[in-house]
Amino acid sequence: MAKKQVKLGAMIQGAGGGWGDWRHPDSVADAAINFPYYRKHAQKAEEGKFDFVFIADSVSINAKSSPHYLNRFEPLTILSAIAAVTERIGLVATLTSSYSEPYTVARQFASLDHISGGRAGWNVVTSWLSGSAENYSKAEHPAHEKRYRIAQEHLDVVKGLWDSYEDDAFPRDKETGRFLDASKQHALNHKGEFFSVKGPLNISRSKQGQPVIFQAGTSEDGRNFAAKNADAIFVGHENIEAAKLYYADLKRRAAGFGRNPDELFILPGIGPIVGRTEEEAERKYREKVELVTIEDALTALGRPFNDHDFSQYPLDEPFPDLGELGANSQQGGSERIKKLARENNLTLREVALRFATPRSTFVGSAEKVADTIQTWIEEGAADGFIISLATPSGLDDFVELVVPILQERGLFKQDYEADTLRGHLGLPVPANRYSLQRETNNLSETVEIRA
Ligand SMILES: Cc1cc2nc3c(=O)[nH]c(=O)nc-3n(C[C@H](O)[C@H](O)[C@H](O)COP(=O)(O)O)c2cc1C
Repeated sequence: MAKKQVKLGAMIQGAGGGWGDWRHPDSVADAAINFPYYRKHAQKAEEGKFDFVFIADSVSINAKSSPHYLNRFEPLTILSAIAAVTERIGLVATLTSSYSEPYTVARQFASLDHISGGRAGWNVVTSWLSGSAENYSKAEHPAHEKRYRIAQEHLDVVKGLWDSYEDDAFPRDKETGRFLDASKQHALNHKGEFFSVKGPLNISRSKQGQPVIFQAGTSEDGRNFAAKNADAIFVGHENIEAAKLYYADLKRRAAGFGRNPDELFILPGIGPIVGRTEEEAERKYREKVELVTIEDALTALGRPFNDHDFSQYPLDEPFPDLGELGANSQQGGSERIKKLARENNLTLREVALRFATPRSTFVGSAEKVADTIQTWIEEGAADGFIISLATPSGLDDFVELVVPILQERGLFKQDYEADTLRGHLGLPVPANRYSLQRETNNLSETVEIRA
């Protein structure tokens, strides 16, 4: 029997993902606004036959935000440029449903989907930073539960708009002068709790039907939203045991929503540090850790708690009691940190350093990293991974050293077998809802006539 195939995405972040990364001697310090940097990494990921590249995002910063957040590209803009210099790799962008209009979002992703020939994906996030409200003319940041309700309606509208045209809506017949078959253009006429959108959308579907939906929720509401709607889920994990529990939970929830659990890909985010030997990997990890000051680590720790200022607490005393802090920000992530501190009796310094410079199980020789990946896949902890750039050479090392091992073991494709993102993931092209209705009606009419 063919082995289960690992799905791989590359998260391209300029100026390093962490706080100190940009200071590494080999790092490109202005990478987050450097197109050649993005082009090089996207092409490297494509050379490694990755299924997609991913560009993360948020819409609120302050002077203490991480170097990558401070000064960076808007995801759909940079992906449109990447689309033009790549051929096959999927292109996934974060866009927040709490601070955007569905009509605009549907247009933007449909445009990227056409530009790239069916390679677009949308990572739907609800935004945890309350400062986002002040950038989008909103009186307040919606509560956590409400953000997910907005997200559901937003996504339903976007998907509805994406079906505005049936696939054969444009005869473009120069002889007869018939450009559009108006019976195949459909208005959505949506009036809901948060959005009112008539439609139709002014762009048709691409060859993959609709962009692929990604999500990254860890809270109860986030998990349910992901299990119901997402084709693929990003998640952060400390270890394989936690990953297995999450995996089983999400697959069970997906089945509960009447879905095929195999069509929901669970992709933990990992930052592999790969060496030709164990010692080389260890040296690279130490170099990275040494660049992070305790001040940086405290700032990083504040992020899931809506940029909370941790410098006000004593460093070497037990982790402070934060009460409900974090519940309206990154709910799942902040709870995990509190639990880690409580269960291990950690001091603030220990928690901050563990959070800012995690020593993951994906640090080591290429064989060891490939073994760990194989174990996670075979033991039901993941369907694949989203690889972030833990060091400046992180992606090159992974593509050159780990991918060939995975290929040799039959765990990863030798070459692309499709040219759309849906094709890479093995997901079916969703039928246009109006064409489906038409077929169902025709079918029932035929049956009636026969009867
Ligand atoms: C690999 C990965 C990528 C993520 N990318 C983004 C992102 O681009 N923007 C964002 O706001 N959150 C991103 N997140 C964070 C999730 O959206 C975050 O966990 C979110 O706050 C989930 O909310 P909840 O735990 O409150 O449900 C990402 C998480 C992971 C694991």
